Amino acid sequence: MSLLEIDNLSVDYRVGSGSLRAVDHVSLRVEPGEAVGIVGESGCGKTSLGLSIPMLLPGNAEISSGSITLADHELVGMSEDQLNQLRWSAVAFVFQGAMNALNPVQRVDRQILEAITAHEAKADKHEATERVLQLLDLVGISPARAKSFPHEFSGGMRQRAMIAMALACRPSLLIADEPTTALDVISQAQILALLSSLRRSEDLSVLMISHDLSAIKRVCDRIIVMYAGVIVESGRTEEVLGRRGEPAQAAHPYTQALIGAHPDLHGERVLAQGLPGHPPDLSKPIAGCRFADRCPYAMPVCREVVPPTLAISAGHIAACHLLSKGAS
Ligand SMILES: Nc1ncnc2c1ncn2[C@@H]1O[C@H](COP(=O)(O)OP(=O)(O)OP(=O)(O)O)[C@@H](O)[C@H]1O
Ligand SMILES: [Mg+2]
Repeated sequence: MSLLEIDNLSVDYRVGSGSLRAVDHVSLRVEPGEAVGIVGESGCGKTSLGLSIPMLLPGNAEISSGSITLADHELVGMSEDQLNQLRWSAVAFVFQGAMNALNPVQRVDRQILEAITAHEAKADKHEATERVLQLLDLVGISPARAKSFPHEFSGGMRQRAMIAMALACRPSLLIADEPTTALDVISQAQILALLSSLRRSEDLSVLMISHDLSAIKRVCDRIIVMYAGVIVESGRTEEVLGRRGEPAQAAHPYTQALIGAHPDLHGERVLAQGLPGHPPDLSKPIAGCRFADRCPYAMPVCREVVPPTLAISAGHIAACHLLSKGAS
């Protein structure tokens, strides 16, 4: 049994008198101790998918289909009280832009302490205080800095503090939404190294959301590529993105375009290719493949029939008509 199982999940937002489907029949698994990356350009539904797991979607959102099971608990339809017991202790979330969400007028150690006591009503004060220092140490913040205010921390340190807070109640799954965006490259590398090491030291599964392929490559065993609310490809990161000296085996033209749009620091110095056009409007029905309008290989069938999801190799799938037998 996987730690996290999402089946056929759809998330709709009410907008004006209509609605917009941000996540459309998405299914995925995360195994214990595994790190999975979700990648895709802005607005493709990454955050909506991530927020639906701990049921933290905004008020105008609705889960219109599907199921989410975390360690055998079905989360869709669960009461707020039950969800509150699982949030933080089973699944913790580091929000997009979280490092700016620390309370500016409260010392960092106090904020983490409150995260512990708010979720573990019976926590012993002395033990909880000790745990705050351990957590800060775990994320590489010296206990000497524990009594700092957030503005006394760099962006990287604030993000570490947020990760420490997320780990306060020993979750088995950490969802990190764009954990390195807005950080300088050195801090980015440190946060990614931290996430990788926490996976092992804390026996943590990680679901990392990012538009940055190199960040996913550094941390994640598997990659899931989203486009306009659907999964277009997923597989082992090394296979889909390639590893040093070996070519990427991305099968979907969108994944190939994402890789082409990404500067390769280790390879030949070639100019990254842009990806012209925009994703489709999610508030309107979309016929066929959602990427067809931007796809250099689009065929007539692509604009009419939704592509089936096909197996490329063990654990590697993609949804593209080009991969169907007989496609020319
Ligand atoms: N609260 C909301 N109300 C209405 N529409 C929303 C809301 N939040 C997100 N959306 C829409 O849902 C779609 C998916 O948005 P989401 O934030 O999940 O994408 P994302 O992949 O996380 O993007 P980014 O990379 O910019 O963070 C977009 O079309 C977005 O405009
Ligand atoms: Mg987002």
